[in-house]
Amino acid sequence: MIEIKKLNKKFGDLHVLKDIDLTVEKGEVVVVIGPSGSGKSTLLRCLNRLEEPSSGDIIFEGISIMDDEHHDINKLRQKMGMVFQQFNLFNHMNVMENITLAPIKLKNMNTEEAEKVAKDLLDKVGLMEKEKSYPAQLSGGQKQRIAIARALAMSPDVMLFDEPTSALDPEMVGDVLKVMKDLASEGMTMVIVTHEMSFAKEVADRVIIMDEGKLIEQGPPEQIFNNPQHPRAQDFLERVINLF
Ligand SMILES: Nc1ncnc2c1ncn2[C@@H]1O[C@H](COP(=O)(O)OP(=O)(O)OP(=O)(O)O)[C@@H](O)[C@H]1O
Ligand SMILES: [Mg+2]
Repeated sequence: MIEIKKLNKKFGDLHVLKDIDLTVEKGEVVVVIGPSGSGKSTLLRCLNRLEEPSSGDIIFEGISIMDDEHHDINKLRQKMGMVFQQFNLFNHMNVMENITLAPIKLKNMNTEEAEKVAKDLLDKVGLMEKEKSYPAQLSGGQKQRIAIARALAMSPDVMLFDEPTSALDPEMVGDVLKVMKDLASEGMTMVIVTHEMSFAKEVADRVIIMDEGKLIEQGPPEQIFNNPQHPRAQDFLERVINLF
């Protein structure tokens, strides 16, 4: 579904992504881990061109995302749902409006249809009763589940998550991870940056480790967590596993 080829990203003199090669298959759950500043968010943001790659290529469903002639960037973004650490809900809109805005505006869905889709999604994330609430009236975990429902309302082909639980109180984390687990088991293609190692072990088909802008190791979770090969991967895992 996604093929990243020799991707490089520089911010001025700062070389943040270095020759990243990575393929994501349809239905695969790929978890990205690595130290702070190693380039995880930048990698995710390059996928839908929230950041402009400096060189290399990203093929999404057979077409280069850099090829503006064959890829309308807005259409492309509609196919990639993105969920951020800080929710990014529209605070002046209630939950129902947050979820239906994009389908109505961008997919020409009528209100009735969009609200039906939204209700099904609210059911899925366990928040049926919150459709009239405003973001300020929700807990962090609830906001994040609404943000996931909002992304799903566009029926994306892939979901990108950037540390979706790291701004949450510990007791909220489980509900959000449960929604993500359900999505994974339904066959959604997902790329997830997270520090939740037990979630990664349980849900990931493949874990990749980034360090200083490079993809230093990748493999199934059992291999990555029990038998990492790269010294910097061993070092990183020792630190996070002691931490959690
Ligand atoms: N817009 C930007 N302009 C300049 N430098 C940036 C920009 N965005 C990120 N960087 C730098 O790129 C490097 C990688 O940042 P990135 O946010 O991708 O790291 P990360 O692995 O997601 O870290 P964290 O775990 O802390 O979220 C960092 O050195 C960061 O300071
Ligand atoms: Mg980040």
